[in-house]
Amino acid sequence: MGIVEWAKSPWGQDVPIHIAWTLIYVFAIGGLLFLIVHAIYVRYFAKAEQYSGGVSEAVAARVPERVPRHSLAARLFHWIMAAAMLTLLVTAFLPRVGVQFAWVTYHWIAGLVLTVSIIYHIIHASFWLDFWSIWPDKADVEDASRRLKRFMGQDAPAPRRFAKYPLENKMYHGVIVLTGLAAILTGVFMIFRVRTGIFPRNPYLFGDMTWGLMYVLHGLAGVGLIALVMVHIYFAVRPEKFVITKSMVFGSLPKEYYLEHHDPERWAVETNGSESSSKRAKASA
Ligand code: HEM
Repeated sequence: MGIVEWAKSPWGQDVPIHIAWTLIYVFAIGGLLFLIVHAIYVRYFAKAEQYSGGVSEAVAARVPERVPRHSLAARLFHWIMAAAMLTLLVTAFLPRVGVQFAWVTYHWIAGLVLTVSIIYHIIHASFWLDFWSIWPDKADVEDASRRLKRFMGQDAPAPRRFAKYPLENKMYHGVIVLTGLAAILTGVFMIFRVRTGIFPRNPYLFGDMTWGLMYVLHGLAGVGLIALVMVHIYFAVRPEKFVITKSMVFGSLPKEYYLEHHDPERWAVETNGSESSSKRAKASA
C-alpha cells in the first residue's frame, strides 16, 4: 500500500489524485500513541523540573499578582483559528470514515476563515507583538542540551527558567506553521476547483499532475494536522498545563507560576514601578 492514490488521466497518464485515506488512521493512532506514552512517562518516570539561578526578592516583589500573557486580540485570534481548524478537520475527514454529508461548502468557508485569521496573526505578530519570542534562541538550544545530558545521567548544570515560551512550544509552533501553511496555500488554489458562487471556477488553472500533487500535499498536511491538533489539545487539558490554557481564556498567569517557570530577564513583564523592565516588556501578548 502506498501513501498516494493514482488514477489515469484522459490522456492515459498516471496521475496522483489524493493521499491514501488509511493515512487518517495512521496519524490518528500515531497521535494517540504519543499521548499514551507521554502520559505514562510523566506519571511514572519524569523527575520534578529543576532550574538554575533564582529570582531576587526585589524583582519578585515588583511582579504583579496576575502577569499578562495574551492580549484580547491574540486570544480572539486563537479561538477563531481553533474553531476554523476543528471545522476543517471534521468536514475533511468524517466523510472519509463513513459519515456522509455535503462537506465541501463548510470546508472551504472554514478554510477562508482560517486563511484570513492567519494573515491577521502574521501582521499582528510582526508589528505589535514580540515577533522573536516564539522562535528558538541560543539559550533554548543550550538548555535543551543541558536537559538531555541530565536525562542521560550525565553531569550538566540545571537549565535556566524559560522565556515567554518553552522550547517545546516554539518547536510545535514551527511545525504547525509549516503544516498549516501547506494546507492553506494548496487549499486556496483548490477553491478554484469547486463551485463557490463567489470565486470564478477554473479547473484548468493547472494540469492534472500539478492538481494531483496539490491534493496530495493538502491531504498530507491535513492528516499531519490530525496528530498535531490531538497533541495540542492533550497538553492543553493536562493538569499541570491547564493554567496556561486558562491564560488563553482570561489573558494572564498567576504570579507564582510565572516566577516558578519563567525568567524575568528573558520574559520581562510590566512590573510595579520598574521603568527599565516595563520598557523592555514588549506587548506581552
Ligand atoms: C486543518 C486544515 C485542513 C485540512 C485537515 C484539510 C483537509 C482536506 C482534505 C482531506 C480534503 C480532501 C482532498 C482530496 O479529496 O484529496 C480537502 C479538500 C479541500 N480543501 Fe481542505 N483542509 C484544510 C485546510 C483547508 C484550507 C485552509 C482551505 C482553503 C483555504 C481548504 C480548501 C479545500 C477545498 C476547496 C477542498 C475541496 C477540493 C475539491 O473537492 O475539489 N482546505 N481538505
